[in-house]
Amino acid sequence: MADAADDSCVFVVFGATGDLMARKLLPALFNLAEDGLLPAGCQVLGVGRHHDVDDDAYRQWAHAALTAAGVGDSEKVQQWCAGALHYQASAQADNADYLGIGARIEALERSAGTRNRVFYLALPPAAFPDTIAALGEAGLNRCGGATRLVIEKPFGRDLPSAVALNALVHRHFEEQQVYRIDHYLGKEMVQNLLAFRFGNALFESAWNRDHIESVQITVAEALGIEDRAGYYESNGALRDMVQNHLTQLLTLTAMEVPAAFEADSIRFEKVKVLRSVVPLAEEAVVFGQYATEEADGARRAGYRQESGVSPRSNTETYVALRLHIENWRWQGVPFYLRTGKALGRRVSEIAIKFRRPPVALFKEAARAESLSNVLVIALQPDDGFDLSFTVKSPGTPFALQSQRMRFRYAQAFGEVLGGGYETLLLEVVHGDQTLFVHSSETEAAWELFGPLLDKRQRIHFYPAGSWGPAAADALWDRGTDAWHN
Ligand code: BG6
Repeated sequence: MADAADDSCVFVVFGATGDLMARKLLPALFNLAEDGLLPAGCQVLGVGRHHDVDDDAYRQWAHAALTAAGVGDSEKVQQWCAGALHYQASAQADNADYLGIGARIEALERSAGTRNRVFYLALPPAAFPDTIAALGEAGLNRCGGATRLVIEKPFGRDLPSAVALNALVHRHFEEQQVYRIDHYLGKEMVQNLLAFRFGNALFESAWNRDHIESVQITVAEALGIEDRAGYYESNGALRDMVQNHLTQLLTLTAMEVPAAFEADSIRFEKVKVLRSVVPLAEEAVVFGQYATEEADGARRAGYRQESGVSPRSNTETYVALRLHIENWRWQGVPFYLRTGKALGRRVSEIAIKFRRPPVALFKEAARAESLSNVLVIALQPDDGFDLSFTVKSPGTPFALQSQRMRFRYAQAFGEVLGGGYETLLLEVVHGDQTLFVHSSETEAAWELFGPLLDKRQRIHFYPAGSWGPAAADALWDRGTDAWHN
């Protein structure tokens, strides 16, 4: 991947004054520019609905947003905004407006000497189709350099809508121009999963049904839905987390060794995993919703009590499921996935439980579970790895116990890992699709999880701040196993 000035671009963001721009994109763009990572000459053009906003007003807004995000010193922010940030109003996705956007981009290209364009849709999903069509119809899908289209999640609401959106995208753009975002792919530890798996022969040689008993993937959030009732009520955890973020963790954990470390090879292997998953049985999935909890004099509101949520809402805030991948590597190994809001604490991890030794040599002394090695890949908040193994307790009588080897990124490298947008934006600018979702991946994920959408009526309530509904424990069918809390 070349960091050439050739990659310099006009970075156009639709949704210029939205939440995503304020909280994620602007800080990431500023940080990249500050660190000298954006190719020289890159210009940012915000496109928004406000006709009374001009460049100066937009720069002031951006300055306030960057300050609120705690980024950089004020003078540097001001300098960057003045030199790189512009605004163009567009009330609707119509041709006249888009020709205006095109003229503005051309003017910026002439003054900055750039030739590539990125169109970033930081918009509500309902606005994707019109915007994509308008870009195509105005001829903004091609230019003298590279034109790239970045689409935020969620990509479709089910399989038919994802297929229709892909068809529309492909009517105007080639797949090589399209960057579907899943911000989990920008997380340092998620990328590290690949380094861990394919850079360590020790683990990769044991990464299969002969050595692994079960795989457990957890993305737990301590917060509730905050102020996102409008979005969340019509989506729920299956659409918000499972079809995308958990799917990415699943496929990166389970995929075969790719032919090369590049976009097509990796994405091809991920799709193969999804196509090998056995259709999910209804009894292998548990949906939950957090309920009001009062403990130690404190009260945590339940989902139905959140502002903007219907008091009779059946939207799921928790999903747990068991699935099987029917291929040579994973046949017979259960994968347990769960995610939820208002759970015990914020933690994302992948727990790989290895098989016990085939012969129970230490019958008397051993507790059965201490003889399983467990590798926990901690993704957040404290990124690293834990490997538990069995040792003899000191002294007599002979007894066994489990101990952990621990590696933490913060200890080894002394830095806090970023939220992922910097990485993803830079990859877009340099035209590398490895960390983005292919059209076939989104469709394969919907093929798998779409059939569950109308099976969500049976909601199990769990106290806010707990580890989810008790019904999820019943997904474990092997007696000694349990969720790794
Ligand atoms: C988003 C979801 O995609 O991911 C949110 O819409 C969720 O509901 C968030 O809270 C979790 O991301 P992270 O990076 O905080 O784990």
